Order: sequence, then C-alpha cells, then structure tokens
Amino acid sequence: MRFGICTLDEFNLKGKTVLCRVDFNQPIDWENDALKSTARIEAAVPTVKEISDAGARLVLMAHQGSDIEYENFYCTRPHAKVLSELIGKEVKWVEDVCGPTAREAIKELKDGEILLLDNVRYCSEEQTLFEMKLNLTHEQQAKTQVVQKLAPLGDLYVCDAFAASHRDQPTLCGFEQLLPSAMGRLFEKEYVVISELMESPAQPCVFVLGGSKISDAFIMMETVLGKGVADKVLTGGLVGNILLHAMSKDIGKGSVDFIYAKNYEDYIPKAKELYEKYSDKIVLPLDLGYVEGGERKECTLDSVPAEIGAIDVGSETIKLYQQLIKDAKTVFVNGPMGVFEEAPSEAGTKAVFEALADTDAYTVVGGGDSVTAAKKYKVTDKLGYVCTGGGALIRFLTGEELPVVKALRHAGKVFGPEKK
Ligand code: 3PG
Repeated sequence: MRFGICTLDEFNLKGKTVLCRVDFNQPIDWENDALKSTARIEAAVPTVKEISDAGARLVLMAHQGSDIEYENFYCTRPHAKVLSELIGKEVKWVEDVCGPTAREAIKELKDGEILLLDNVRYCSEEQTLFEMKLNLTHEQQAKTQVVQKLAPLGDLYVCDAFAASHRDQPTLCGFEQLLPSAMGRLFEKEYVVISELMESPAQPCVFVLGGSKISDAFIMMETVLGKGVADKVLTGGLVGNILLHAMSKDIGKGSVDFIYAKNYEDYIPKAKELYEKYSDKIVLPLDLGYVEGGERKECTLDSVPAEIGAIDVGSETIKLYQQLIKDAKTVFVNGPMGVFEEAPSEAGTKAVFEALADTDAYTVVGGGDSVTAAKKYKVTDKLGYVCTGGGALIRFLTGEELPVVKALRHAGKVFGPEKK
C-alpha cells in the first residue's frame, strides 16, 4: 500500500474481472473519426498490459470530452483502435456503457481479453454538470446505474485515471464503495512524483499558465502564489487575455467578444483581484500575436488594432519568458500560450517548450494540451516529468484531498489488499 491506497502488487489478477477506469480523454479530429493525440492512451499502456498479461478479463471505462463545452464529446471507438495498435493485441469495443449489450460483452470476456466500454459521460449521472449541481456522496454514487449494473460483474476496481482524479463522478468514486480497489501504475507514478515535487520545489520556481481551462488556471495561480510556491507566474493564452482585459489593457474587440461569448466574464473580478495582490509575481504578456489574411501579425499593447482576436503572445513576451525559464530552478507548465495547433499562432507555445528543453531547471508539464504540445515540439524526453493530469494536478496543489484518492483510501480501509 502507498498513501493508504492498494497497488496492483497486492492482488492476484488471474481469472479476475477487473473494472479499470482510465483517462483516454483527447482532442478529437472530427473529419477523420480519429484522435489528435494519443499521449494519454500511451501513458496507460503499462497498466493495461500488466493486468491483461496477468490473465485478468479487463474492462476499461473512459470518458471522452465534456458536457460543459461539448467540443470533444465523442465515442471511444477510436481509442480502442489506438490502444490495440499500441499493445499489439485486440481491444474489443462496445457501443454501450452499462446496458445489456455492455454487460453481455463483459460476461463473454475470456482471461487476458480487453474490452473498452463507450464514453461513460454518455450516462447523465457521470456528467460534470450532474456532479457540480448534485454533489452526490460516494455512497450515493455507488447507487447510480453505472455502478449498480457493472460492479456485480467485477472482482476488482482499478483507477488509473489520475488526470480525472479531481472529478467526483460515479465511475471514479462509486465502485470503491463496493469492490476491493487499487490504483493503476500511471496513477501511482503521477501521485508519487507530484507529491514529492510540491513538497519543496527548488527556487526560483516559475509557473507558466495558459490555455483555456480558466477556472483551473485561476485556482492554481491563487494556490501557488498564496502558498509561496511560485516566485513568478507567466501568463498566456486565454488566461493572459482575461488578466489583461481585467487590468483594462486593450486586447482587441475579437478577444473581448470571445471572453463574453464563452461566459468567461465571471473570472474578470478574480483576475483583477489576483493581479492587484500579486502584481510583482504575475507576469502579463507584453505583446500579442494575431492572424490577418492567414498570416501571423503582432502588436504591442498600446497599438492593438481594433477588431483583432489575440491568439498568441508576441515576440517580446517570448523573449522575456524564455529568459525567466532559463533562470529558474523549477518550471511548471500548464496550458499553451496560444492556438498552437495552427502554424501562425504557435510561436509562443513553441518557444516556451523549446525553452523548457534547454533550461537546467527541473521541468514539469501537466495537462492534455501541454502533453500534446511537448510531443509536437519533440521535447518530451527532455522534460523532468510529464503529467497527464491538468485539472487534477491543480486540485492536488491546493492541498485538498482528491475525490478519487479519498475513495481509493476508503476501499483500502474497508476491503484492504488481497495479499498482505
Ligand atoms: C482532463 O482532460 O483534464 C481530464 O480528462 C478531465 O476532463 P474534464 O476536465 O472534462 O473533467
């Protein structure tokens, strides 16, 4: 046991039906019915192989996309294909989560076989809005359809979804009430590395926060500045734009309209409060990148063309951030500086990741987009640690016990390990 949680070492897996929750959540390539990145699936391979090679019947549960933005809400069929290619073994897939078709497919599994169920967030009880509005306890989550229908078919529950461990949802926190449970290898690794890192990071410690998961970014900013963990927080992406707008800087009509269209205006007071409190530590972009007629253009903050939508940081910001990353002893990155998927708006993100590869600092990258960017710029093997979790990492940093950790500890106490 580690941290009061059972590990895979403590169970005999042969012949067991293992219900394993993974985080395969990736951006979707809609045109090709495929995934834009496979990083999170690759990260889960050691756990999948270990369980299947030990002769267990492995049932994988995963979510894809979110009911909050619906951008990547999709089935898990492409994930089964990718996993199957990665492990060189068939991964069955069923277009059902916990209905009769899924249950029949589970019952038909033979030792060593693997089945991936469809997107668990197709079940309303698993949705983030449901979680946020109803706040079900873990005991109540154990009474949901998905847990009630699947738990009787399983002998062991394994959670390898560290990246989703901040979510209080039935497939993450409900099974631990009913079944012996363990964390998977990826979960174990991420939890150990992050715990050690946050205990005493070498200073100066720089956080680079970008991307569009605004709520996560502001929680993280407040935590690491409040606890004195971060010496500087460099901002970019939508996070940077909201801070600039909150401080009455001109970011162009397109950028402002985007903030309101996505209902992010609620974060403006928080952004202002944080910047006013930590203006010596929060670094705002000095200039912006935007696209006009398909070409990249840049502007300083005092000469922003009226209609633009800023989708990257500019060259002066890039220079400053590269220097601060070079001078740091610990650098933590969550979220890109701009729309790095497209060439005219990738300069900021590319420069940050190249600086990470060059610095002597210990570097940690977290979150789906950042993991994808690290791969795109071929720097993954030059980074100190790449964590699949973004939101989970942030919640972890706040010092709160993660819901899944709580649930796994509960199972550790109630059911204990099989092998002592
Ligand atoms: C993530 O991408 O951070 C995890 O998969 C959790 O996704 P969510 O933020 O949609 O819950």
